[in-house]
Parts: sequence; C-alpha cells; structure tokens
Amino acid sequence: MTDTIGVGLVGCGTIGEALARAIVDGQGGSAALRAVYDRDQDRARTVARFSQSKVCPSVEAMLDEASVGLVIEAASQSAATECARLALNRGRSLLIMSTGALLIGDTFSELARLARERNVSLAVPSGAIGCLDTLRAVRAGLERVILTSTKRPEALRGAPGFAAWESKKIEKPVLVYEGPAGAAVRQFPANVNVAASVSLAGLGPDRTIARVVADPAAPGNVHELVASGEFGEFTARFVNRPSQANPKTSQLAILSALEALRGVCDGRVRVGS
Ligand SMILES: NC(=O)c1ccc[n+]([C@@H]2O[C@H](COP(=O)([O-])OP(=O)(O)OC[C@H]3O[C@@H](n4cnc5c(N)ncnc54)[C@H](O)[C@@H]3O)[C@@H](O)[C@H]2O)c1
Repeated sequence: MTDTIGVGLVGCGTIGEALARAIVDGQGGSAALRAVYDRDQDRARTVARFSQSKVCPSVEAMLDEASVGLVIEAASQSAATECARLALNRGRSLLIMSTGALLIGDTFSELARLARERNVSLAVPSGAIGCLDTLRAVRAGLERVILTSTKRPEALRGAPGFAAWESKKIEKPVLVYEGPAGAAVRQFPANVNVAASVSLAGLGPDRTIARVVADPAAPGNVHELVASGEFGEFTARFVNRPSQANPKTSQLAILSALEALRGVCDGRVRVGS
C-alpha cells in the first residue's frame, strides 16, 4: 500500500482551487491536502473548508506542519522562487506551476541542486503544452525550437509586454513579441510559463525562440511548438480551452499539474516519459 503524501498548497486561485478539488475527489494519487496558504486569506479559507485542511498565515508556517511532505506552488512568478527555496531547504518536495520564475538568473539550477542535496523531488509540469518528453529525448542534437503562443487580447492584458497594445483595438492577429524565451517570461509573467518549460526541456532560455500573438479570433490559448535537429523535426499544436475563472490559464495546465502530482506520489510506473 502506498503511503499518503501530505500536500501544502501555496496559491488558492484558479489552478490551486481546481487541484484541491481534484485531490479531494481522489484524482491526486496518494496525495492528501493538509495545509493551504494564499495571501488572500479568504481564498485560502474557501479551499480549506471543502478540503478540510489547515489555513496557514505564511509559507514558513506551512512548513512547520510536519504532515506536509510536498508543496505545490500555484501562486505567481513573484512568489515562486522564495516559496521554492523555503520548501526545498526544509526538505519538502516541490511542484512548481509558475515556471517562468525558473528562468530568472540561475534559479532553476539552484533549485535543482537543493532538491538533489535534500533528496526530494522537484517537479516542473509540462503545463499548458506537451511533448516535453520528446524535447528532452532529442536535446543533444536539437538545433531549433520555436514556440508560438496565440491568445485573445484579454488573456494578455496586464502583461508588461502588452502595455503598448493595451489601449488599442486589435482586430486581426498581431505579433506582440518575438525573441528569446528568457526575456518572454519577464514580458509576459502570467502568460507564457510554457516558454519556460519548453526551454528547460530543450535548448535553454537564450536559444529557444518564443513568439506571442494576440488574436481576437483565437480558438483558445494556442501553443504551437516546432523543433528540429539531428533526429528530424516535429510540430505540435495545442488548442487549449481557457479556464472560465482566469482566461490566462488553460484547463490543460490544471490537468498536467494533476498528472505531475500523481507522478511525484506514485511514480514507480509511468508511461510516456
Ligand atoms: N506552467 C504552466 O503552464 C502554467 C499555466 C497556467 C498558469 N501558470 C501559472 O500558475 C500560477 C497560478 O495560476 P492561476 O491561474 O491559478 O492564477 P490565479 O491568479 O487564478 O491564482 C493565483 C492565486 O495565488 C495567490 N497569490 C499570488 N501571489 C501570491 C503570493 N505572493 N503569496 C501567496 N499567494 C499569492 C493569489 O491571491 C491567487 O489566489 C501563475 O503564476 C500562472 O502564471 C502556469
């Protein structure tokens, strides 16, 4: 029988609340929600109520809970690094959703080193895209990776990289960013976490090209990945249904987080990676 893994959830918004509901429904493998934290304590209380978990006043307080063995970060790029450092330093496994944070400076290598030193897991879900296992497999001979993310303008609002377009009426597709993935996650911190995940699996933040397109007729949050190298080439296109609560976030991101959670909890048998 598999031991239960106690989960501490940081961020009780669109992804956090959906994950909490799924865990309560038994879809999180052997995970059991034990503690929640959100800077908006009303949100934390809402999730705590239906999941019968404890509301914590801070990440530090959550880590004082001996029952928490795994922290899920589903808050924001600005919260992610500190939360990740604290959790790993205190010997907790970590599943991180705000993957853009991993491209700032040496954050990813620092966290990966901490996870190895503490002998815990660091899980980076594929999020709103897939085929990251393929990118990892062909990485040695990879030559070119281009990720084009197309979203409706309302899903890009508030991003620094969208500031020049904020007051304009966009009536046809507009390329609002093209450049390295590392810079894309600064320009669009809540929109292109996939650019971070793709670059960590493949060519890295400088050589992965990210393109962001605002299209009022986009059929959803669309991510098209084109990769080529010694292995040949592939194209993958994900047409994601945006979450109703937050149009920036795709439902696939929630499902992928759940699958990553099952992987951390019950990872002995896995298909496809
Ligand atoms: N990896 C991916 O493919 C992917 C896909 C979608 C979203 N995301 C990222 O996941 C994160 C969560 O997304 P969401 O749609 O649930 O967002 P959301 O805005 O719906 O919810 C975020 C929650 O976190 C809380 N929060 C924000 N900053 C915090 C802080 N410093 N400390 C404590 N709580 C804080 C907010 O109060 C809110 O309740 C975001 O960073 C988002 O960019 C990643």
